[in-house]
Amino acid sequence: MTLKSSTQTVPEVSLVPRHIALIMDGNGRWATKRFMPRVAGHAKGVEAVRGVVEACAKAGVEYVTFFAFSSENWRRPQEEVSVLMRLFMTALEREVAKMHANGIRLKIVGDLDRFDDKLQQMIASAERKTAGNTRMTVTVCANYGGRWDIMQATGKMVAANPGVTTFTEEMLAPHLSMAYAPEPDLFIRTGGEERISNFLLWQLAYTELYFTETYWPDFDAAALERALVSYQRRERRFGRTSEQLTEQAAAVKC
Ligand code: IPE
Ligand code: IPE
Ligand code: MG
Repeated sequence: MTLKSSTQTVPEVSLVPRHIALIMDGNGRWATKRFMPRVAGHAKGVEAVRGVVEACAKAGVEYVTFFAFSSENWRRPQEEVSVLMRLFMTALEREVAKMHANGIRLKIVGDLDRFDDKLQQMIASAERKTAGNTRMTVTVCANYGGRWDIMQATGKMVAANPGVTTFTEEMLAPHLSMAYAPEPDLFIRTGGEERISNFLLWQLAYTELYFTETYWPDFDAAALERALVSYQRRERRFGRTSEQLTEQAAAVKC
């Protein structure tokens, strides 16, 4: 099944977002504020992921996507990168069984070849184990970049259409790394920065954006609830006028 993109058709909108994508930012500052090493913030950040996954499952969200490590995060000090990789492995070891028991499908997307073999094997095995679960899909974006995604999809699209020189959105979309999910309805970035940092560039075309000053380790169920309330107040027009939406709602009521 190919999911239509928001620039091709107007998606159905419900009060609870079907798909939430999050940039978990502010771990380092959370730790520095407490005179702790930055990596302590990353460790605490893993706990926040668990809380948000549970709260999303309770709220009926179908897809939750976390930006865990960007294509550009390799630029960080080697020691911090190593700690992040170790944390990722430990989290996989600890959390996969629990997620599986809770009916959660786990997907890891990004340019995974750059990770060491052991981590790649753990990723493949976690995905295999949870592949049949249907309650919710949790995606972790690791060594992910929006531009990388568009480029890898373009390469696959060209290879799949030999001799073709004119391409459409419909031809590219199935090759994007998250083709299995609808586009995010709600994007949340913690930590106070108001930027996309090369996250899901293609998929965020019509996503509602929510920024909060809260550092990621402090982002709990109550903070998520505030984002959901903000989302419910938005009018998603997808290019149409507000009057058209009112007329449509009146027609549905008749
Ligand atoms: C986000 O927190 C986690 C990752 C990028 C892995 P940061 O580490 O960017 O925290 P700040 O922005 O320095 O506070
Ligand atoms: C974005 O956070 C990437 C992740 C959360 C994984 P950064 O903290 O790396 O973003 P920039 O560099 O400040 O934009
Ligand atoms: Mg940051």
